[in-house]
Amino acid sequence: MRYHSIDPQLFINNRKRFAEKLPSGALAIFNSNDIMPTNGDGTMSFRQNNDIFYLSGADQEETVLLLSPDSFHEKYREVLFVIETNDHIARWEGEKLTKERATELTGIKTVYWLSELESVLQTVMSEAKEVFLNDNEHYRRANEVETRDARFRRWIGEKYPLHTYRRAAPIMHELRAIKSPIEIELLRKAAEIDVEGFKRVMKFVKPGVMEYEIEAEFLHHFIRNRSRGFAYTPIIASGGNACVLHYIENNQACKDGDLLLMDVGADYANYNSDITRTIPVNGKFTSRQKEVYNAVLRVMKESLDMLRPGNQLHEYHREVGKLMTSELLGLGLLDKTDVKNENPDWPAYKKYFMHGTSHYIGLDVHDVGSWTVKMEAGNAFTCEPGIYIPEENIGIRIEDDVVITEDGLINLTEGAPKEVDEIEDWMNS
Ligand code: GLY
Ligand code: MN
Ligand code: MN
Repeated sequence: MRYHSIDPQLFINNRKRFAEKLPSGALAIFNSNDIMPTNGDGTMSFRQNNDIFYLSGADQEETVLLLSPDSFHEKYREVLFVIETNDHIARWEGEKLTKERATELTGIKTVYWLSELESVLQTVMSEAKEVFLNDNEHYRRANEVETRDARFRRWIGEKYPLHTYRRAAPIMHELRAIKSPIEIELLRKAAEIDVEGFKRVMKFVKPGVMEYEIEAEFLHHFIRNRSRGFAYTPIIASGGNACVLHYIENNQACKDGDLLLMDVGADYANYNSDITRTIPVNGKFTSRQKEVYNAVLRVMKESLDMLRPGNQLHEYHREVGKLMTSELLGLGLLDKTDVKNENPDWPAYKKYFMHGTSHYIGLDVHDVGSWTVKMEAGNAFTCEPGIYIPEENIGIRIEDDVVITEDGLINLTEGAPKEVDEIEDWMNS
């Protein structure tokens, strides 16, 4: 792996927390992701399944994790199956996990080759009272492609049709929403790489530079710092492009007098950052750009104050909507009648700020976690208000990544200049 080894205590603790949520006599099985094909014999680079990674740290394809905390057979309480490596594989594909290395990385004592899965299953299935299997239950998932977990569910269901199968996902969502100190350090590392990328780029941007040249600057910095690369397809949007929320073409020249919105995240050890900054291409905001920018910044500061234990995400979003409404009135973009006649399901402010303010962040950029429970210490969120005015060629979003603690927020991305003066000074120094 490109990243530094992670303390296996993270995965040992995660398995312990998971086991505490299982009913007695339960068995749980997790599969890695597939390597996705492109065309011909081409493949995409491997990206591990976040749940098996969270519970094991094993970052390799064709890996299976089996947890049966109450098994009579102590050696079967935690078992990792990895593909058998040999000299031929080592020569053609490079290093794969040996059993010893797998134990070192994961803290799991029993490691078998994948070919032994069926016979071990025969024993643990005979003991299991219930079997927890995994699925992608992200509320915005797009499950067109059958996953290895899905194939496995079909296979095991046919082989053991009378067992009771249950969902592991709700437990995983609950656990993953609370970040432990080692995870916070990994998020911090991803954020640091990203922050430094933004600082580099802010000095690189000038009139005439192409959006893709800016993308290349980020990638250069990320990869040199042990990141696999972008956490998501980056948005480098100058002028009116910034009003297209998912603009990813990044193929236009940045024009003198325009703003440039950059929404760019870095991956580090499968953890993600998600930062947005909006800067003037020529290093100086116009007075109107500054006026709108500072309105977004005020909403952001007040929103950050509301990310605290006990608050609830839906209520938080409603409150942010009120703050945004008052700023849009101040900017002359809405009037009192617009607000008086607004549709409560799509309030007037949505014309200029049509996306959410915060999402969980972690192993997924839009990380798993409940939207109905109250916020608590250990939750990591983005905060990303914006105002988009196509008729003025202005699209502004500012986005930070934060962790909630009992003593206030840790802002992981505050190092990226954000105040108007800070941005102008940094770009022109
Ligand atoms: N870059 C994706 C997001 O901000 O949520
Ligand atoms: Mn973003
Ligand atoms: Mn975001």
